[in-house]
Amino acid sequence: MIKQAIIPLAGLGTRLLPLTSVFAKELLPINGKPGIEYILDECIDAGIEEVVFIISKKKLMIKNYFYKDSFYKKIIKKKKDPRVIKEYKKILKYKKMIKFVYQNKPLGTGDAVLKTKKYIKDKFFLMLLPDDLIIKHNCSKSMMRIHNRHKSSIMASMNVSRKTVSRWGIYKLGKKINKTNYFVNDVIEKPSASKAPSNKAVIGRYILPKTIFSKLSKQKPGKGGEIHITDAIQSLIKENEKFIAHNFAGKYLDCGSMQGYINSTVEISKI
Ligand code: UTP
Repeated sequence: MIKQAIIPLAGLGTRLLPLTSVFAKELLPINGKPGIEYILDECIDAGIEEVVFIISKKKLMIKNYFYKDSFYKKIIKKKKDPRVIKEYKKILKYKKMIKFVYQNKPLGTGDAVLKTKKYIKDKFFLMLLPDDLIIKHNCSKSMMRIHNRHKSSIMASMNVSRKTVSRWGIYKLGKKINKTNYFVNDVIEKPSASKAPSNKAVIGRYILPKTIFSKLSKQKPGKGGEIHITDAIQSLIKENEKFIAHNFAGKYLDCGSMQGYINSTVEISKI
């Protein structure tokens, strides 16, 4: 059983400027609740017991969000407001399960993952990218079920328009397992439309093997000069590590772009 998750939060969030000039995008409210709480709730519901946040000094606001005990205590003592008491209990529950590590230079998602190396105890762990919200169905939970059956690494997958493949990690699919799961033969970070092996994109949910750390520690920067997690996954696949692409149920919301962020509130308010 997978009990640990990691969440990279040390990116700059330039696509959400000007909001991110002073604010951590993961704390921006989506229908009245910070985006990161949706991600934590998905983890808790999937049975995760410990979450490692990768933040930077510039994003200490995220740690502070979970450490305002004296503020809450003062308000609760003065007002005894049941809503505040409930919110504080929720924050305490999150706080208990979160550890923080730092990536002060945003060198890429792969570099962010490498920072968690000494915290990962088991053979496999879950990674969630907080810009990618998946609503109406717990994607992490479904991926854990597939992992338990096949004992392999899993990545979430979604069909995207051929015109947009250069924005994503794209799979070359291998053998079909069933309607929603395929073995992966290759994965390429942001390919051009002519080089893309399919229109199936990697979405921000991964079950990764601990062996990925040794790949990451040797990895050179790739596209855009960043150390991408996709490139380390590609090296593992080439060495015959089994990876499954899981076409998830539920609705994908991209909260990392301004239009997507605005739309996510509209979509969640309809549920
Ligand atoms: P992205 O590259 O999609 O987002 O990273 P970003 O860098 O935060 O935002 P833009 O592109 O400038 O608008 C995907 C996830 O990986 C984290 C980000 O915080 C985001 O959750 N990340 C990215 C890191 O933790 N470290 C990095 O070096 C890069």
